[in-house]
Amino acid sequence: MLAVDHGYFQGPTTGLERIDINILPLVQHADTLMLTRGILRSIVPSSVSQSIVLRVSGGTSILKELSNEEIAVDMEDSIRLNVCAMAVQVFIGGEYERQSIINMTKMVDIGTRYGIPTLAVTAVGKDMTRDARYFRLATRICAELGAHYIKTYYIEDGFETVTASCPVPIVMAGGKKLPELDALTMAYRAVQEGASGVDMGRNIFQSESPAAMIQAVKAVVHDNETPEKAFELYTTVKNE
Ligand code: 5RP
Repeated sequence: MLAVDHGYFQGPTTGLERIDINILPLVQHADTLMLTRGILRSIVPSSVSQSIVLRVSGGTSILKELSNEEIAVDMEDSIRLNVCAMAVQVFIGGEYERQSIINMTKMVDIGTRYGIPTLAVTAVGKDMTRDARYFRLATRICAELGAHYIKTYYIEDGFETVTASCPVPIVMAGGKKLPELDALTMAYRAVQEGASGVDMGRNIFQSESPAAMIQAVKAVVHDNETPEKAFELYTTVKNE
C-alpha cells in the first residue's frame, strides 16, 4: 500500500506537493493507495484500478492537538468513491483516546452494513514509548473493538509479539524517511515477523528514486526478496 494521505493534517508534505506529477507514475507498482477523498477526486484518474483505502478521520492540523479527530467523510461518499477500506486514526494513550476509539467503532459498524472494512491506524503521540508493550496494547484494543485490520509501526524488539497477539492482519506503517537499505530491511523484517503487508509513504516518495524504491519494497513484500537483493534492484532501476 502506498500512503499519500499526509496532507490531511500537514498540508503539502515534502514529496507530495505535486501528486499528479510525482505520485501518479508510482501507482502502477502499488496494490493499494491510501489517500484522502480530495486527492482522489481531483488528481487520480478514473482509469486507475488500484484499490483505495480512504482516509476518513480528520479535523485537526499539525498546529493543534492531533488526537482531537472526528469522522470527516460520510459513508455514502466512501461508497460512491468505491473504496475497498476506510482508515481511521486511533490514539491509544492520547488526549482524545476515547473519541478516536469511538470514531473507529462507528466506522466498523457503518462500514459493516455495506461490506467495507475499517483499517485502524495506531497513532503514537510524541511522548509515548514506541515499544512492544505499547503496540501490543494499541493493536489488540483496535482488534477487540472490531477493526478489520490494523496499521502499526515496526519495532526492532518484539514486533513478532505484536503480530502474534493481534487476531487480525497487521500492516506495517513506514514512518520517517530512512536510508533505502534500512527501510527495505524494516519492511523485510516486518513481513518475516508476521505483518501481512506494508503501507509506506515517506520512505517511498522522499526517496532519491521513488519509482525504484516502490519496486524494491514490492519485491520484499511479494517475492520475499532479502533487503540486500531488493537494494540491488533499487540501485539498478535508479540507474536505468
Ligand atoms: C498517518 C498515516 C499516514 O498514512 C502515514 O503517515 C503513512 O506514511 P509514512 O510511511 O510516511 O509514515 O496513516 O498516521
